[in-house]
Amino acid sequence: MATPVAGKGPFARTIVTANAQRGCFITLEGIDGAGKSTHAAWLVDALRARGRSVVATREPGGTTIGEALRELLLRQPMAHDSEALLMFAARREHLLQVIEPALARGDTVLCDRFTDATWAYQGGGHGVSKTLIADLERHVHAGCNPDLTLLFDVPAAVSRQRLDRMRAEGRALDKFEQEAANFFDRVRDAYLKRAAAEPSRFRVIDARRPLAEVRADLAHIVSGL
Ligand SMILES: Nc1ncnc2c1ncn2[C@@H]1O[C@H](COP(=O)(O)OP(=O)(O)OP(=O)(O)O)[C@@H](O)[C@H]1O
Ligand SMILES: [Mg+2]
Repeated sequence: MATPVAGKGPFARTIVTANAQRGCFITLEGIDGAGKSTHAAWLVDALRARGRSVVATREPGGTTIGEALRELLLRQPMAHDSEALLMFAARREHLLQVIEPALARGDTVLCDRFTDATWAYQGGGHGVSKTLIADLERHVHAGCNPDLTLLFDVPAAVSRQRLDRMRAEGRALDKFEQEAANFFDRVRDAYLKRAAAEPSRFRVIDARRPLAEVRADLAHIVSGL
């Protein structure tokens, strides 16, 4: 079997799909403080326990270039459309170097945020043009979309409480985590509209509940994969 090398470009997928079953692409979404990172590690273990080979990654980030762009995106004030452009530049590298090769090998990819976050934050939160986001989405990953998206849903007030607690414990908040409640209301609303438009891809999880209850939902979802 021809083995693709990570980062060797879009043809890697064509070479391998004739021989290996394509992996499952799972994304975690939700406003800041919803619990994505908290549950990601548990989800990786649960998927591996079911015999899957799992690549856990995040956006923006996941590559050297992506992590450098993440630092800029999370720390530096910039124009909202610049934010969208940089998010998709990071995503393009992530797709070519990490996500596509992993899916082509048959691995399960678990990604903390993906393009739904750009629609929700830059589109819903900041009002960036839908045409621009749709064009970039098409250029960067036409034909490669999540199979399953877990949307951790909390109201902005719950997000704020959790983020304030983290700050009180000494964790510095990033640029997005410092946004006002009405920004998070718009982001949440955009996420919920996307979930309603694509119910077969999304699972909306009520993430206000205690961790154990959220985890029970996740266990149920994983067992049904
Ligand atoms: N269901 C829950 N009940 C109580 N606290 C929770 C729950 N889920 C997460 N938390 C806490 O909320 C805080 C934020 O969680 P986490 O970092 O997982 O959120 P996130 O969605 O990854 O946020 P970000 O988008 O900012 O990375 C953490 O301190 C975590 O322990
Ligand atoms: Mg997180």
